Amino acid sequence: MTTLYDVTPDDVEHILAVSADLKERMKRGDRPNLLQGRVLTLIFEKPSLRTRNSFEAAAIQLGGGSVFLTTQDAGLNGRESLADIARVLSSYSDVIVMRTFSQSLIEDFARLSQCPVVNGLSDDLHPCQALTDLFTIRETFGQLAGLHLVYIGDGNNVAMSLAMAAAYAGMPITFCSPDGYRLSDEFLSSVRSHVPTADLKLVADPAAAVKQADIVYTDVWASMGQEAQAEERRKVFAPFQVNAKLMAKAPKAARFMHDLPAKRGLEVTDDVMDGPQSIVFQQAENRMHLAKGLLVWLLGVDHAG
Ligand code: CP
Ligand code: NVA
Repeated sequence: MTTLYDVTPDDVEHILAVSADLKERMKRGDRPNLLQGRVLTLIFEKPSLRTRNSFEAAAIQLGGGSVFLTTQDAGLNGRESLADIARVLSSYSDVIVMRTFSQSLIEDFARLSQCPVVNGLSDDLHPCQALTDLFTIRETFGQLAGLHLVYIGDGNNVAMSLAMAAAYAGMPITFCSPDGYRLSDEFLSSVRSHVPTADLKLVADPAAAVKQADIVYTDVWASMGQEAQAEERRKVFAPFQVNAKLMAKAPKAARFMHDLPAKRGLEVTDDVMDGPQSIVFQQAENRMHLAKGLLVWLLGVDHAG
């Protein structure tokens, strides 16, 4: 799964259901050996707390194992060809999770790999996060269709995967970003052509955007690889901070989400992150439950029992 376009809405339903079942079982102390003898390989070009550890924990808790490689360890710095690396590593692995700058590197690797490849974040997309977000929203609200997701901030990898996930789930989604940082018309058209019922809007004013929100979502202003622009972005994004004043404009029942890591005091303030509307740590925990559901689904393992 290099993008959410690689799965159907039915696949998403299946992944969410397996994840929910395995979460419930884990809470009862049941950690079934569904991945016994299976090897998960992770190749990461960028740092990660949640993605790396949630996948490794998922594999271990289900009786499998994991191997972590930096791109340098894997030889992706030119030590050997991509085709040779993919051929060798995929002969040792059951699933490979990749985190890279370039989306096309993950897609090229997936084409060359003999085992499934999962996008663990690229500059363009973060599908495992978006699937987890659907899981967390359903867990919190008991439904997905019709809930209004409002994303405040950078039109980045997280925003793009959320747009695709929301479209699949029948959730209207509004994006509110500064000039120059909005999702492109080309991207929005591509989502609409994949999912004709997609309800995607762009709104300029954060206060207007959150008025009808069920969920207010934000992400960092400068993503990994954009550190040199951080200072300039702080100025541009300042009016888009999710703080108590902005949350007061949203319905009281609205929830706050953030994929994390958060830069507290920039895109979100402590009172919102740690406040009663925040579900960010439930969301972070759910990365592991979703990783389990995704691995079990990808490998076609029967999880019943
Ligand atoms: N949300 C997320 O993907 O976090 P990491 O960058 O820590 O993996
Ligand atoms: N947009 C952020 C997400 C981190 C999980 C980044 O790419 O750094």
